[in-house]
Amino acid sequence: MNASLASIAPQPEPSAAVARFLKRTPKLLIGGEWVESKSHKRVPVMDPATGREISSVPDASAADVDRAVAAARQAFEKGPWPEMLPAQREALIWKLSELIERNADELAELESLNNGKTKFMASIVDVPGTRDYFRYMAGWATKIEGSTFNSSIHGPPGVKFHTYTQREPVGVVAQIIPWNFPLAMCSWKLGPALAAGCTCVLKPAEQTPLTAIRLGELILEAGFPPGVVNILTGYGETTGAALVAHPGVDKVAFTGSTEVGKIINKAATDTLKRVSLELGGKSPVIVLPDADLNMVVGGAANAIFFNSGQVCTAGSRLFAHRKVFDQVVEGLSNAAQAIRLGPGLDPKTEMGPLVSKEQQDRVLGYIDSGRKDGAKVVTGGEAPASAGYFVKPTVLANVRPDMKVVREEIFGPVVVAQRFEDLDEIAALANDTPYGLAASVWSKDVSAVHRLVPKIRAGTVWVNCHNFVDPAMPFGGFKQSGFGREAGRAVFEQYTELKSVCIAI
Ligand code: NAI
Ligand code: MG
Repeated sequence: MNASLASIAPQPEPSAAVARFLKRTPKLLIGGEWVESKSHKRVPVMDPATGREISSVPDASAADVDRAVAAARQAFEKGPWPEMLPAQREALIWKLSELIERNADELAELESLNNGKTKFMASIVDVPGTRDYFRYMAGWATKIEGSTFNSSIHGPPGVKFHTYTQREPVGVVAQIIPWNFPLAMCSWKLGPALAAGCTCVLKPAEQTPLTAIRLGELILEAGFPPGVVNILTGYGETTGAALVAHPGVDKVAFTGSTEVGKIINKAATDTLKRVSLELGGKSPVIVLPDADLNMVVGGAANAIFFNSGQVCTAGSRLFAHRKVFDQVVEGLSNAAQAIRLGPGLDPKTEMGPLVSKEQQDRVLGYIDSGRKDGAKVVTGGEAPASAGYFVKPTVLANVRPDMKVVREEIFGPVVVAQRFEDLDEIAALANDTPYGLAASVWSKDVSAVHRLVPKIRAGTVWVNCHNFVDPAMPFGGFKQSGFGREAGRAVFEQYTELKSVCIAI
């Protein structure tokens, strides 16, 4: 019997720090204070490894959205925030990064308990990634600049013109984030907005609000002025939709499903809010015939199984050249079978559950549809016996391009494997998707790689690696994977307005 078939171990008890957090009753962060929701309703929060409720958070109502937007508006226009020097904003963001580091162990554990990912992964990826994202963005607070240019305006005789541009914060920003990287997504959204001088209303996903709330406590501890960051927990269709429709919001930044991205883009049109959308993907992993197959097998496994496949850039479509296809699929299937499933706080666990029962049902539904359409389940294809929301790492072969499992984002540990014949057809196969978030190419042939990269319609192309991100590396989608770029200098296009100043002198 292989490891993934073994029964799921029990979830260990949380540490004292996390137990203390779970005893607190989370509230909404509005105007620098923790307050009850006007709705007095709550959203249950589950441990996906056990299906047990571990906490509950307020279900923010439209009245709470009004209060939070008003607090963010007040903080944007008056008080210490707009008067602060960029270097003071930088210092505050850096202070927050230090508090994240000081509380790293608690944050990693809380992320694991709420999302299902292993504490180990949270402590080497999510938490340091969050700290470093804030650090990188802290540095930008002092580097946002405009330009001067020599104008050719013909004015009245003797009059000259001095012309320049400056970048100003876009204003009050609503930031709606998903459940796959709950804490890291807070930093991707808050980091650049705060560096630019915006104020924020952040809505974490209803499934995973806990680390956002802990981060809210650290934001207060760091000393951000009241109302600069407000945090509202609640459901997307209510709290999220009220935020997007609110006339007091200048910009919406969203990460999540393409379906909701389209709803948000339409809703934001009424008041012409600025919108940036980081949406779904169906990213290809392209293995050329000369690739180092040992590297490919580990790389392709990580590309799809990292974070239980709940990654917008997951390498969910494997294309291997016919000469290496069988070896790659066999290696990948062996890797899948060797992965030990379990609860995130167990140090022996290599892959945790999916985030929710809903997500588990969705992923199992996709696997069934693949089966019905004639795909071959090479390995996995089912849930182990457990009250948690686990799905075994799954490899599907014998798929056709028109199958649902090939066309739609599954967002779970499921890869579809296809073979290709020649290098001329591979770009067309890789691009045969409404998405365009990412891709990876595996080869040692420098010429082949450089010829292929420009043909791939995706916002990020990795070569001999997959899923690596850096705060300096712009991130975002082509096609229906969204628009706008996060990270790097590029993100400031999203959080600033460009003002031209023309002075007759
Ligand atoms: P979702 O897109 O519904 O949720 C993401 C965020 O949007 C959450 O904070 C949610 O509360 C909010 N939201 C939902 N409806 C909203 C609305 N009408 N107005 C404003 N905000 C709204 O994603 P969901 O339902 O959790 O997952 C469905 C699928 O979406 C997944 O199976 C996956 O394919 C995809 N997804 C993609 C993500 C990515 O990183 N690109 C992240 C999460 C999900
Ligand atoms: Mg949804």
